[in-house]
Amino acid sequence: MSDKPVLELRNVTHEYRGRRGIFSQSAPVRAVDKVSICVERSDILGIVGESGSGKSTLAKIMLGLLAPAEGEVLLDGWPAAGMTRRQIAERVGFIFQDPYSSLNPRQTVGKIVAYPLYLRGEGTSAERQERARKILDIVGLPLRFFDAYPNQMSGGQRQRVAIARALITRPKLLICDEPTSALDVSVQAQVLNLLLELREEFNLTYVIISHNMSVIQHMTTNVAVMYLGRIVEMNTSERVFEEPRHPYTQLLLNSTLTVAPGAGVPDLKVDTAAREAMREHPSYIAQ
Ligand SMILES: Nc1ncnc2c1ncn2[C@@H]1O[C@H](COP(=O)(O)OP(=O)(O)OP(=O)(O)O)[C@@H](O)[C@H]1O
Ligand SMILES: [Mg+2]
Repeated sequence: MSDKPVLELRNVTHEYRGRRGIFSQSAPVRAVDKVSICVERSDILGIVGESGSGKSTLAKIMLGLLAPAEGEVLLDGWPAAGMTRRQIAERVGFIFQDPYSSLNPRQTVGKIVAYPLYLRGEGTSAERQERARKILDIVGLPLRFFDAYPNQMSGGQRQRVAIARALITRPKLLICDEPTSALDVSVQAQVLNLLLELREEFNLTYVIISHNMSVIQHMTTNVAVMYLGRIVEMNTSERVFEEPRHPYTQLLLNSTLTVAPGAGVPDLKVDTAAREAMREHPSYIAQ
């Protein structure tokens, strides 16, 4: 087994082109700005930051869905730029936020889960179905759902289908972008615990993006805090939660802690005055 990091980003930058109007074009948006991250085997890296800070863009770069304009992505020490989509998919799986739109409504659960194997030309149809049944069992879905359609299932059940589909090809790394934020609070914990159990069973490494600081605290070994496309603080979860060093991290933690219990998942909105104060801070950008 390679001792290289499972995933490494070196100075990765991505800009979206500005929107073209009739008379003008708006300025490009630098969604990810010189981000360097190293994810070692069995790490669970949490990425936090308010809406628009570049988390999903970073996830897409990690998945090879977006090529960075600058910088390098390495998987197991090999440049992802030299890999085919299929080679990347063999290493990296994903679970996205919305279990309602991420599953094809016209396909049965069995087909959806077996599809990645079909794409890879693995096994006979019967063998693929058998593997799909096994993985559905592992993620805790009763076999009767094999022939069901996604719209016959609850949000939590659908997210289990998405997890089964991600795991059927046995990737080493799973990128989860808000994996539970579309789910009821009572179901969130079940899905998160399932991810933790699967980590043992499949020897998985995770990148988990979440707005929910308690999810991050509960789940992760390391945390990266994003602000305006940059990573402003990165450390072990313990350190980040006990001794947040960057003022933005302190703001995030404070703004979360002030939310009343039972008020649902807090959105990471930092008030404008606090943000302005932070801009003045000398350690505004850590990198
Ligand atoms: N396809 C796109 N075209 C142009 N700009 C985009 C596109 N996708 C995202 N952006 C911009 O890039 C920035 C980062 O967006 P991104 O979706 O990565 O943020 P995020 O941290 O995932 O936010 P959220 O927490 O709301 O999901 C934002 O300013 C956004 O408006
Ligand atoms: Mg996002």
